[in-house]
Amino acid sequence: MNVQAKKHSADATTAEEGLAADNMAMPVDSKMATEVAMQNTLLTPRFYTTDFDEMDAIDVTPVREDWDKLIARMQSDPNKGHFKKNEDWDQIDWDGMDPGLRREFIDFLISSCTAEFSGCVLYKEMKRRGSNSDITTLFQLMARDEARHAGFINDALREAGIAVNLGFLTQKKKYTYFRPKFIYYATYLSEKIGYARYITIFRHLEAHPEHRFHPIFKWFKEWCNDEFSHGEAFALLMKTDPKLTSGGNKLWIKFFLTAVYSTMWVRDHQRPAFHEALGVDPEWYGQEVFRKTSEISKQVFPLTLDIDHPRWIPTLKRLEAANRQIAKAKAQGGIGSALDRVAGSAKAAAAFLSLYTIPAVKNDVPVETRLEPAY
Ligand SMILES: [Fe+2]
Ligand SMILES: [Fe+2]
Repeated sequence: MNVQAKKHSADATTAEEGLAADNMAMPVDSKMATEVAMQNTLLTPRFYTTDFDEMDAIDVTPVREDWDKLIARMQSDPNKGHFKKNEDWDQIDWDGMDPGLRREFIDFLISSCTAEFSGCVLYKEMKRRGSNSDITTLFQLMARDEARHAGFINDALREAGIAVNLGFLTQKKKYTYFRPKFIYYATYLSEKIGYARYITIFRHLEAHPEHRFHPIFKWFKEWCNDEFSHGEAFALLMKTDPKLTSGGNKLWIKFFLTAVYSTMWVRDHQRPAFHEALGVDPEWYGQEVFRKTSEISKQVFPLTLDIDHPRWIPTLKRLEAANRQIAKAKAQGGIGSALDRVAGSAKAAAAFLSLYTIPAVKNDVPVETRLEPAY
């Protein structure tokens, strides 16, 4: 089948069409942006691969009713054509922007674009390898959405003279293998925390439009509704097998919750100018997003993290300080800084362990999984 290139990724009905859209072409040399997106550290978005045959074997019969409703809603495609510039898109003076803010905001856009694209690549691959029509239908719909999201961020970056070379990333970026159950935990959380992050910024800017320093934030509501649906799909996938959320797997769920929350905290604190421009205190923002994500994740996870525990915030701050030490040592190079790096890593590991051992809050998972975006 010949895939006809569409004008814009927003109008694409499949991931393949989206990736072949005109706005995905690279009109400028963006070596820097691609290099940033190529980075593989604990804090940067990764590309994943998994055991696709095991995922293909999932039987959604136990959740059939909710499943069919979710797929029907995604197929009705309420956001088709939405993710492109229109008359609401205000012109941005990139050259006049404070250089610190410009650097952090571009870093934010590149890492968001990489994360969207990483989802697109994983979902597209599942759709390509699978033969179970429930699974391939879902993954093709999610890949479609992520291609549109990545394309839209690329549009915003292009105005700043930057574009991430997505084709190059697909071929050259390292893929991390996760067994399917880890994909469920990690991807479910990243979709739901993505929803919580975007809706919190959207609501904040609704109340304080003077802080909306870039038009892309106006698109966050529909955007996060897509992520919410993707999270719903993973919640249903986990519901098909009660073993995934019981017994020893509870320790894995706690591990992923701790890893996802603490990574977000550290990464956000690396962008002080960005948060100041938004008029958002990163500590308030972090706790607000954790609270929403925890509340949502009660639909499927048998525990939530105790983010009001007296050790929680002080230990996140220690983790953040350890990460700053590691970054500084890396930038300096040399023997002394190598030792500094080891010391920083030991401190980071100790802080993570301390966070992980805060007693979790038990949750009785409801029979009914389905949720609506309520924030
Ligand atoms: Fe997305
Ligand atoms: Fe998503």
